[in-house]
Amino acid sequence: MGSVTDQVKTFPHLAILYDQIRWEEKALYEAAKRRDFDPINIDCKSLVLGLNESEIQYQHYKIIQRCVSYFKNIHSTAALEGLGALVFNPLSTNSICGNKLFTHMILRKAGVRTPKAYAAFSESSAINALDQLGYPAIIKPTVGSWGRLIAVLADKEAAKGVLEHREHMFPLYQVYYLEEFVERPPRDIRAIVVGEQVIAAIYRYSGNGEWKTNMALGGRAENCPITNELEDICLDASRVVNGKIVGVDLMESKNDGLVVHEVNNTTEFKNTVKVTDIDIPGKIVEFVHEAGKH
Ligand SMILES: Nc1ncnc2c1ncn2[C@@H]1O[C@H](COP(=O)(O)OP(=O)(O)O)[C@@H](O)[C@H]1O
Ligand SMILES: [Mg+2]
Repeated sequence: MGSVTDQVKTFPHLAILYDQIRWEEKALYEAAKRRDFDPINIDCKSLVLGLNESEIQYQHYKIIQRCVSYFKNIHSTAALEGLGALVFNPLSTNSICGNKLFTHMILRKAGVRTPKAYAAFSESSAINALDQLGYPAIIKPTVGSWGRLIAVLADKEAAKGVLEHREHMFPLYQVYYLEEFVERPPRDIRAIVVGEQVIAAIYRYSGNGEWKTNMALGGRAENCPITNELEDICLDASRVVNGKIVGVDLMESKNDGLVVHEVNNTTEFKNTVKVTDIDIPGKIVEFVHEAGKH
């Protein structure tokens, strides 16, 4: 392998930056190749970036940021964007969307409906927050995905048990982000937004005995019609986080209508393609190819 500079110089205009290769990364690569966009794959783990290098080398590169790891994602985005590359999504999006509390605050400020939530920073204040929020409630890591470490707190005893475990975990887990358990049908909605368009949406029904609807936990997907209401709230959510390619997760709250509980900045879309038959990877690479030209 040549020097870092040589490596960088050989970057084509469209790169897919990943830390894991999933169906989505392969599909993006294939879609770009079919359109002669001359894509390359870059494994974030093999990337060496000279942070003082000239911006000229990077200015013409468009990078689809697909790193799953929040930390690899935001730091590689910051470095590449800082060096002059166009990164999709940009740092402003990735640093907000990777954190559920940050996302909640920015959505709320812009008037996008979200589940009611509390933040607390010690076991005892988390119990106080839960007294105000009421049970059952949900505890989520501020940074995480695939439903991992998200738990229902049925009552105070269950809460004490979970919070005690949290006290022995990495400091991130002593940031207590607590949400009301939204009364909803046994499904949520995942909508894919590319640029200024909601291109596809699915209902995600929870799998056997599971209350979370994540596909990674065995959820089942079905096509979801894109109503005007759904379109408006998804576009608002995406704009608020400066999103370019995002997956907006929503619930149909019995009390509050559509509420946004997450905006995914490296969204998965395998099942959305399967049930809607919409060429999501094609639309993404075309959007990236066109971006910055006008
Ligand atoms: N406040 C809530 N009330 C009811 N169900 C929820 C709530 N928050 C999340 N869920 C369920 O849990 C799943 C995972 O939550 P989410 O916030 O999207 O985290 P992740 O990043 O792990 O996907 C959601 O898709 C939804 O099915
Ligand atoms: Mg989610």
